Amino acid sequence: MTPATTNGTTTEGTASARPRFDKSAAVAYEGARVLDTRSACQVLRAQGVTKSYRRGVWPRRRVLPVLRGADLELCAGEVVGLVGENGSGKSTLMKILVGALDADAGAVWAVDRVGYCPQEPLLYDRLTCDEHLELFGVAYAMDPAAVVAASEALYASLGFARWRGARVEELSGGTRAKLNLALALLSDPDVLLLDEPYAGFDWDTYLRFWELTAERRAAGRSVLVVSHFVTDHERFDRLVELRDGKAVSR
Ligand SMILES: Nc1ncnc2c1ncn2[C@@H]1O[C@H](COP(=O)(O)OP(=O)(O)O)[C@@H](O)[C@H]1O
Ligand SMILES: [Mg+2]
Repeated sequence: MTPATTNGTTTEGTASARPRFDKSAAVAYEGARVLDTRSACQVLRAQGVTKSYRRGVWPRRRVLPVLRGADLELCAGEVVGLVGENGSGKSTLMKILVGALDADAGAVWAVDRVGYCPQEPLLYDRLTCDEHLELFGVAYAMDPAAVVAASEALYASLGFARWRGARVEELSGGTRAKLNLALALLSDPDVLLLDEPYAGFDWDTYLRFWELTAERRAAGRSVLVVSHFVTDHERFDRLVELRDGKAVSR
């Protein structure tokens, strides 16, 4: 299993991608093969992912099926929108793709370097922005000089350098969202999974976000974005909708 750090890049692995979770290995991986990363559409692939949550306590215990065999594929240099009604399972699927949550069945293959920006920023109140970037740099096993260079570029492009020495508890929601995104981008991952990344962004930052996304596409990186805004839809190469627990092309 490839462990994943929240907000960030998976930290271990070999050059080739392999199934990320093995809970139902006996069934799910029958006939499965290692991703062929020479193929443009084999950057990230999910097959037959199912997930149910258990709610309540006996005798009122019930099972809520959320994903019922979702398939998804991401190609190199593609920006894909993941849409669906509230509660359709977008965040659940993202957590499974990044390895933060186990599926009940199915399989996920991905290249090793996957960045993740969770819907709820998971930040440490007592640490500053600089300390977060430094900490995540260590988690990604980055060279300290590369962490400094990448941090400076992210502060400049997202426009929050003046908050670099401030603790998270002092930051506005918008600045926390910028830090959340910066942490996911720090190690320049091949695949970026963003769960409603711009809630709280002002208009300039929102536009800057799309410029950054376009730069990643041009560099052959892939981005999967959970989005609610209809106006965003023209910015995606394609849209995938979660409906009745399955992923359908739109
Ligand atoms: N940890 C959990 N325990 C129980 N139910 C959950 C849990 N996480 C999510 N759910 C439920 O699963 C459904 C899908 O949630 P989610 O993946 O967050 O949807 P979306 O991101 O599309 O709004 C919702 O009905 C939600 O209430
Ligand atoms: Mg969600």
